[in-house]
Amino acid sequence: MTIRLAVIPGDGIGPEVVTEGLKVLDAVSARFSLQIERTEYDLGARRWHATGETLPDTVLDELRAHDAILLGAVGDPSVPSGVLERGLLLRLRFELDHYVNLRPVKLFPGVRSPLADIKPEQVDFLVVREGTEGAYAGSGGFLRRGTPQEIATEESVNTAFGVARVVRDAFTRAAGRPRRKLTVVHKNNVLVHAGDLWARTVREVAAEFPGVSVDYCHVDAATIYFVTDPGRFDVIVTDNLFGDILTDLGAAIAGGIGLAASGNINPQRTTPSMFEPVHGSAPDIAGRGLADPTATILSVAMLLDHLGYREASQAVEAAVAEDLLERSTAGRRTTAHIGDAIAAKIVG
Ligand code: NAD
Ligand code: IPM
Ligand code: MN
Repeated sequence: MTIRLAVIPGDGIGPEVVTEGLKVLDAVSARFSLQIERTEYDLGARRWHATGETLPDTVLDELRAHDAILLGAVGDPSVPSGVLERGLLLRLRFELDHYVNLRPVKLFPGVRSPLADIKPEQVDFLVVREGTEGAYAGSGGFLRRGTPQEIATEESVNTAFGVARVVRDAFTRAAGRPRRKLTVVHKNNVLVHAGDLWARTVREVAAEFPGVSVDYCHVDAATIYFVTDPGRFDVIVTDNLFGDILTDLGAAIAGGIGLAASGNINPQRTTPSMFEPVHGSAPDIAGRGLADPTATILSVAMLLDHLGYREASQAVEAAVAEDLLERSTAGRRTTAHIGDAIAAKIVG
C-alpha cells in the first residue's frame, strides 16, 4: 500500500512540528509496512517574498494528485495579515472543497485542563466546523476608506447546499457515537437570515436521523458551557467563524493548543483531504524547539484514519496517549524530544 502524501510545512513553527509528524509517520510506515511517497511543497512566507506567489495553479493541480495533505501552519509577521491565510490556507480549503473541518475536543488522561476537577470523560466531543462558506467566503469592502465616515463590510455566505451537506455529515457522525447527540451552534437571535437557513436545514435533515437528539445553543452561551459543562456536548455543528473561535477554546479546555488536531475533509474523497494542527505559526516561539508537536502527530492519526488505516491510526493515538500520561514526570522537553518519544513507542 502506498500513500501519496503532499507536505506543506509552511511558516513559523510549521516546519518544526511537521518534522515530528513525519518522524511518527516513518515509524508507522516501518511497523505497518506502509509505503509513503512524500512530496514537500515550498509554500508560505519564503516563497511569497521570493516570487510573490501564494498558491500557483500548477502547484494546486499537483496537490490534487495526492491521497492527502499534511500542513504545518501558515502566516508570518513579515507578510501582510491575510495574504497567506487567505491566499494559501483558505484557498486550499475552498478549491479542494473541504467542507467538513473536523476538530475533536478530547481531554486525554493525565493532561491538565484549566477547568477544576474535570475528568477526561467530561471533555470528549467533536466539532464539525463548516469549512467553505460563512464569513470566510463572503465579499467585503470599504466605503470612504481612511475618512471618519469609513464603512467596512464583511458578508457571510450560507447556501442551502453548503449548510445541508455539513449538517448531514454531523448527523451521520453523531449517529455513529454512543450518545447520539447533536448540538447546533449559531446566533439565530441576531443573524436571522443565516440562522433561519441553518435552523430549517437542521429540522429537515433531522427527519433522516430519528435516533439522534438535537439541541440548539447560541454561540455566546456555548462558550459558557465549554467552560462550565463541556460534558453536555457530543457532536457540535456550526458555521465557519463560530467553529474557528470555539475550537481554540476547545483546545484550551482540553489541555492546550499544542494538542489540538484537525482534518479538512472532503467526505466524497474527490479531492485530497488536508490535516493540520488547529494552531497557527506561533511566531513568538518559532525556531526555539518550544513548540509542542502533539497536535500535528494527532493530525497524522486523523489522516491515517481517513485513508482507512485504522490500526495505524490507533497506534499513533495510543502512543500519544501513553506519552501524555508520562508528561507530568518527564520534565520539559523540546519539540524533537516529544516526537522521538512518541515515534519510539510506535516502533516498539
Ligand atoms: P497561534 O496559534 O500561532 O498562537 C497562539 C498562541 O499559542 C501563542 O502563544 C503560541 O506560542 C501558542 N502556540 C501555538 N501553537 C503551539 C504549539 N504547538 N506549542 C506550544 N504553543 C503553541 O495563533 P496566532 O498567534 O493568533 O497566529 C499566529 C500566525 O499564525 C498568524 O499569522 C495567523 O494568521 C496564523 N494562523 C495560522 C493557522 C493555520 O495555519 N492553520 C491557524 C491559526 C493562526
Ligand atoms: C484555523 C486558522 C485559520 C482559520 C486562519 C489562519 C485562516 O485560525 O485554522 O483555525 O481561521 O480557519
Ligand atoms: Mn483558528
